[in-house]
Amino acid sequence: MKNYKNVTVLDHPLIRHKIAILRDKNTGTKQFRELVEEITTLMAFESFKEVPTKTVNVTTPLEKCEQEMVVEGSVAIVPILRAGLGMVSGVHTLFPTAKVGHIGMYRNEETLEPQEYYCKLPDGIEKMQVVLLDPMLATGGSACDAIALLKKRGCKSIKLMNVIGAPEGVKKVAEAHPDVNVYIATLDRCLNENGYILPGLGDAGDRLFGTK
Ligand code: PRP
Ligand code: URA
Repeated sequence: MKNYKNVTVLDHPLIRHKIAILRDKNTGTKQFRELVEEITTLMAFESFKEVPTKTVNVTTPLEKCEQEMVVEGSVAIVPILRAGLGMVSGVHTLFPTAKVGHIGMYRNEETLEPQEYYCKLPDGIEKMQVVLLDPMLATGGSACDAIALLKKRGCKSIKLMNVIGAPEGVKKVAEAHPDVNVYIATLDRCLNENGYILPGLGDAGDRLFGTK
């Protein structure tokens, strides 16, 4: 795959370890959910190096000093329903007071085209750094439409975070939205004829919520 300036593949051994367990078809719902959350926290740690901070005065037992703290209210978390919900608490671990918006999308199983069915975003989101969450970036249709929706609402700083990306989806998002920074934990081989990522992990929503 071509190198895109706005795409980072995190490829860290600790994340790879967790993804190996995530992919295993024998991994149950509870462990799957926990792993998605843990992987997301590790990804967020890496991808939020430029979060707005402010200087504060702190008194240690020894003296006064100036320290840096994250500006509250600077980050909004937006999961793409359903599967993105599994990543929300992973980001909340680092930004406990971050507001959460929701975008509902499902893929039409025949055309693979995304259908939007819900959207509720926090007031003032256009001034925040938005992190859009979805464990799977397959054709890239859902992510592209969700980003377009956020831009229509005035959002200017958008990050997309996916656990697994297919080259097809990475290309589509990177080229359609060069101003969006895309972080994927690992890059897989390709899509199969039904639009599933190979080797992938199957249907992320079903595995998170135990629906199949
Ligand atoms: C999955 C996944 C993404 C989308 C990726 O959701 O969570 O949102 O497919 O595919 P794309 O890149 O080809 O658009 P799905 O439509 O299965 O809905 P669900 O999360 O409710 O299960
Ligand atoms: N959505 C999923 O949940 N898994 C895939 O492999 C592709 C899209």
